[in-house]
Amino acid sequence: MIFLTRKADFSAAHFYRNLSWTDEQNIAAFGKCANPQGHGHNYVLEVTVAGEVDPVPGFVVDLQLLKDILEREVVSVYDHRHLNHEIPEFASIIPTTENIAVAIWNRLDGKVPNARLHRVRVYEMDDIFADYYGEQTTSVSLEQQAAPELIA
Ligand code: NI
Repeated sequence: MIFLTRKADFSAAHFYRNLSWTDEQNIAAFGKCANPQGHGHNYVLEVTVAGEVDPVPGFVVDLQLLKDILEREVVSVYDHRHLNHEIPEFASIIPTTENIAVAIWNRLDGKVPNARLHRVRVYEMDDIFADYYGEQTTSVSLEQQAAPELIA
């Protein structure tokens, strides 16, 4: 199993507002990010797929094909859009970095042939990013997480 990552970027506007809250509540929670006119970010997307190396070409997935899938499924949809106003999944879900990562996962899941989607990483800024690995089916219980010697 090997992991292969392709990057892409897009620019988009968004705002943070809980539509069931008052202006005051939104400003208290989100500050200037609540401005309903929105503001923009240059998002960077990293998509990691996992699979086995095909011995003939020597890669897991054709990188041009992966680029084309990212372009078709994400970049062409999100680039130069107002996420809250123009992208259906953000009509009722606040387009935070975390929620954008989940939405991109949902757009890409099952679209990459011969590989499994492993991670979607979205950078909102150089120092802020969110990772999503899909729904984790092998959750670890609290008892398993704590090292035995730490349980006094
Ligand atoms: Ni923002």
